[in-house]
Amino acid sequence: MFNNWEDLIAECSKCQKCDLCKTRNNVVVGVGNKNADVMFIGEGPGENEDLQGEPFVGRGGQLLDKMLTAVDLDRKKNIYIANIVKCRPPQNRDPKPEEQEMCIDWLRNQTKLISPKIIVCLGRIAAARIIKSDIKITKEHGIFFERNGIFMMAMLHPAAVLRDPRKRPEAFDDFLKLREKINEICPDTYKM
Ligand code: URA
Repeated sequence: MFNNWEDLIAECSKCQKCDLCKTRNNVVVGVGNKNADVMFIGEGPGENEDLQGEPFVGRGGQLLDKMLTAVDLDRKKNIYIANIVKCRPPQNRDPKPEEQEMCIDWLRNQTKLISPKIIVCLGRIAAARIIKSDIKITKEHGIFFERNGIFMMAMLHPAAVLRDPRKRPEAFDDFLKLREKINEICPDTYKM
């Protein structure tokens, strides 16, 4: 465990704990306000993220930013965004359990340093890893689970919403629920 961001980022950026390091262009550590109370966790970088070194910068990321803006959240201001795995799985396949296992300590370390009050998991892979392994994302997105004083919620993955635009209203509904929870437990988020 590193107790400062400088060391954490430096070490994570040269990680070779799994084979994903062989095909990556960039390690995608995370982006946002390191003092945020709200943390978003995705599954892993795609092509654009791998090229730019930042999470959620492709089409899915643009949709995410739009929904965030609608509830006064902003990756440059009041949230932090990271992924379960920091390097792109080839052909955008799901990260393998062993890759997740090798990578998860980086996320644990990030979470420890940020100490978020709310964690939002984007998509099934992140929700299964962080909230509960048997989560049914279609039924259980938008529901808060509390563990050790941290409120956790799964949302539909932006890529899934892009694939099926009929999911937009229910996806957006979850952002409204998130805003409510922020106003309840960490309203200072809106002063950052
Ligand atoms: N999908 C994810 O889960 N994370 C990213 O950073 C980009 C796309």
